[in-house]
Amino acid sequence: MAQIETAIGNDIYKAAELLRANELVAIPTETVYGLAGNAFSETAVKQIFHVKQRPASNPLIVHVHHADALNEFVKEIPAEAKLLLDAFTPGPLTFLLPKRNNVPDLVTAGLPDVAIRIPNHKLTLALLKEATLPIAAPSANPYTYISPTSAEHVYKMLHGKIPYILDGGPCTLGLESTIIGFPEGVPTLYRKGAITIEEIEAQIGKVRLATTEKIVAPGMHLKHYSPKTKLILSDDPEQDIYNYRHQRTGLITYNTYSNALATEDQVLLCQHDDFKIAGANLYAAMHLMDSRNYDVIIARKFPETGIGLSINDRLNRAKT
Ligand code: TXA
Ligand code: MG
Repeated sequence: MAQIETAIGNDIYKAAELLRANELVAIPTETVYGLAGNAFSETAVKQIFHVKQRPASNPLIVHVHHADALNEFVKEIPAEAKLLLDAFTPGPLTFLLPKRNNVPDLVTAGLPDVAIRIPNHKLTLALLKEATLPIAAPSANPYTYISPTSAEHVYKMLHGKIPYILDGGPCTLGLESTIIGFPEGVPTLYRKGAITIEEIEAQIGKVRLATTEKIVAPGMHLKHYSPKTKLILSDDPEQDIYNYRHQRTGLITYNTYSNALATEDQVLLCQHDDFKIAGANLYAAMHLMDSRNYDVIIARKFPETGIGLSINDRLNRAKT
């Protein structure tokens, strides 16, 4: 791929102009940075797959600036989806709904549903409004690598490949959106994310968890979000630090240092006791640890509740 100059800035007019010219822009969201392109442009969508090195069988989320715009792209919105839209929009919830014909098959990888969300980030909402286009955007990382939660992460991974990174600061939530669909009218969770199952069930009652037997969201595939360094998910970090004592080891842990390893080889995800903060810091910790050339990164497993479920999901797919 020919190298191009990658600029970083906060100019939404420049970003909108590039998107209208079917060029790619990295955009901030409350979850992770996205690699954005005009969803209606074959050139732009193909370029997203190319830059990300992502198989064309893995579809893209469409981002719009207001819930009202959903009707333009989906055939119908079930009652539960409306309740969730009221409760969580704009926000980190992606809806899988039957697409209208105007949504290109390239975006949905030929699937009958489109994934669509309204991101909750001031700059990007202003950009979506200014660009007046639906924006297709996967996370702005190379296929299977760690997602970016800052403009610097994007620059490190994609400089020379895209013309502009819209810098909206560090992502406040740091984990991808939760994905929900309604096959045969049954609310079904396809990706654990920044909104917890508990929060969704408080609005609409019991939701089904999609099983991996029938992979609908290819993000359900096992290898994903992975550092280059070997990563293990640990129920007992002290034991694993001991097991790997002859190797260079780093530890990603919750809010207290382990006595079994030098503190400079550890990253705390949180200073207090708040899983949301830990989730927000997870990918930055993984990027940092992956840059340190350890032989192995040990990550402490979280309790299986709330955001802990989403964090474990990512660590489980990141492990090697
Ligand atoms: O928080 C997020 O959702 C971020 C920000 C940038 O919005 N985006 C994101 O996109 O995480 P991506 O492409 O990295 O993950 C989207 C997941 C993928 O696993 C994809 O397979 C699934 O959503 N997906 C997208 N469109 C789909 C469709 N039409 N049917 C089934 N799964 C779909
Ligand atoms: Mg992704």
